[in-house]
Amino acid sequence: MSRYHQVYESWKSDPEAFWRDAANLVDWTRPPQQIFDADAGIYGRWFPDATCNTCWNAVDRHVERGRADQLALIHDSAITGTVRKFTYAELKAEIVALAAVLSDAGIGRGDLVVIYMPMVAEAAIAMLACARLGAVHSVVFGGFAARELATRIDDARPKAIITASCGLEPGRTIPYQPLYDGAIDIAKHKVETVIVLQREQQAADLTPGRDIDYASATAKAKSDARDIPCVSVNATDPLYVLYTSGTTGQPKGVVRDNGGHLVVLAWSMENEFGVKPGEAFWAASDVGWVVGHSYIVYAPLIHGCTSILFEGKPVGTPDAGTYWRVISDHDVVALFTAPTAFRAIKGQDPKGEFVKKYDLTNFRTLFLAGERADPETIKWAENQLQKPVIDHWWQTETGAPITQNPVGLGSLPVKYGSPGVPMPGWQMEILDDSGHPVPRGTLGNVVAKLPLPPGSLPTLWHADERFKSAYLAEFPGYYKTADAGIIDEDGYLFIMSRTDDIINVAGHRLSTGAMEEVLSEHPDVAECAVIGMADPMKGQVPCGFVVLNAGVDRPAADIEREIIALVRNRIGAIAALKTVVPVKRLPKTRSGKILRATMQKIADREEWTMPATIDDPAILEEVEVALRGRGIRPLR
Ligand code: COA
Ligand code: AMP
Repeated sequence: MSRYHQVYESWKSDPEAFWRDAANLVDWTRPPQQIFDADAGIYGRWFPDATCNTCWNAVDRHVERGRADQLALIHDSAITGTVRKFTYAELKAEIVALAAVLSDAGIGRGDLVVIYMPMVAEAAIAMLACARLGAVHSVVFGGFAARELATRIDDARPKAIITASCGLEPGRTIPYQPLYDGAIDIAKHKVETVIVLQREQQAADLTPGRDIDYASATAKAKSDARDIPCVSVNATDPLYVLYTSGTTGQPKGVVRDNGGHLVVLAWSMENEFGVKPGEAFWAASDVGWVVGHSYIVYAPLIHGCTSILFEGKPVGTPDAGTYWRVISDHDVVALFTAPTAFRAIKGQDPKGEFVKKYDLTNFRTLFLAGERADPETIKWAENQLQKPVIDHWWQTETGAPITQNPVGLGSLPVKYGSPGVPMPGWQMEILDDSGHPVPRGTLGNVVAKLPLPPGSLPTLWHADERFKSAYLAEFPGYYKTADAGIIDEDGYLFIMSRTDDIINVAGHRLSTGAMEEVLSEHPDVAECAVIGMADPMKGQVPCGFVVLNAGVDRPAADIEREIIALVRNRIGAIAALKTVVPVKRLPKTRSGKILRATMQKIADREEWTMPATIDDPAILEEVEVALRGRGIRPLR
């Protein structure tokens, strides 16, 4: 029997009492007297009078209370074939040493540090060292190109960057120096200090006066026996800023505060994920994404678990058995990954031959999120693993699940295609475009009643107005998730699609608007549109449509190649744009809005109807013909 309904009702009947109780999971330097201040911030603030330190809660308190010799972090690199393990005491020593280096570079409470790292243990250490000092980190995914990094530097205005000499993708080394040097050149904001971790696969040249060698500086801090205590900050002070795709090329800086984040993550590990302190938890994501922040670094450590930080891919490093190898080598009890990873594994090992080779006895639960989990993939994983597979739904903005099947409280019946029921803190509703509630089972805008729970974004970095207009203005009194979905008669949510121009490629959130900005930079492009097209492995992939300038008579294939290279160069390979289709005209409404949703339906071979507001119906047929010419065969 699940305790979910009872727990959810207890939150609903007295939210402040619920969060006061949950706050006991956290060490405070000044415990909260007030739980929520409705008058503070934009929609209120949680734990407004409390103070704390996130690094203390993630590391020091475990060292003090019997976990000093327990493994805290395991870096398992399937790419290099190496494993590094850190006990809580060792992790603390690494964090203190880097905090000393940062402190010597003038970084203190409230200063911002950009972390641009591959999947190495030092990425987590860097985040925690910032947290220790009360500095604010902003991790930029290591697969983003120089210009994306520069955009974030200009918005975040960091005092320092922590980076590495290279990243490793299967079969290739990615030198980071041209990327961070390039970004620093492009950015208007000037960065004073760059701390560079030299990796043996490819070294970087250090710029005198700017760059610090990570290894020698931290070694010196250790030999000097430097002690850097945790700095107490306000619970409402920012812990980090994480940029995520918006509808334009200007990403949104999602702010996460210290106190609410600690409370909600601590609560989620036991109650939602059903994991106990001392157990090994693995989120196979990247520290550059929110999943990596919450469930590689912070939540497992706050909860006293052993966290796995994995450098590799579900397939090809070296094979489709890697995930099972990691689970069995490190005695992982719960894995959290994106459905794409399972589609990739299933594609290469449909019969699950690799699964049988490993001992998965202690493995209990597979958690999937980041994109829609198709029932077929869930059922395949259930069959292979013979363990529960739990889909759950959240966003960078929320920092923790909005809906889930909370195995820690006792599992609810699984409904395939649904990421579960709302977690405490979340009152979800479905509204039509005019803001009216729709009957159960009807598709509409998924919104959350304000206030958002602890751990959710209080605002966007230095952009309160953008926060209000992007999330709160359209449906007064609610947070707009920008997802479309359904709530069924049992209160389960079904998330169907985004309502904006965001697409989800291999579990990565990308803005078609940002890609369109790059396409239109090409000198031969007059107009363009980018849509997300269904893809059997990645869920969606982008597809660009371009109208060329009059008089351009160069081969279309050359232009397509150049555009693909431009997107790779400006955004990064992660954008995965591989198809650009030249068309004579773009379909638009009479008021000039490009009909991207209809184009997407055509590309996905879904049924579509002619929009009443279309300017010239013949253009959609031209789009169909152009897609057919590329082997993408529309219906009709
Ligand atoms: N640095 C540099 N380049 C990177 C990168 C990084 N950190 N991460 C990805 N890339 C590159 C890849 O090498 C690839 O380049 P290519 O076009 O030259 O092949 C491109 O970006 C696209 O990467 P990806 O989307 O990872 O596709 P893939 O074909 O290499 O791998 C999967 C496919 C399914 C194995 C992979 O997408 C995957 O593991 N997905 C799980 C996603 C996930 O965990 N998301 C987190 C949300 S929970
Ligand atoms: P991100 O901010 O990168 O975590 O992406 C958030 C978006 O991913 C959501 O708004 C959804 O569109 C999508 N998403 C995440 N998890 C799920 C899920 N379990 N089911 C369906 N869509 C999901």
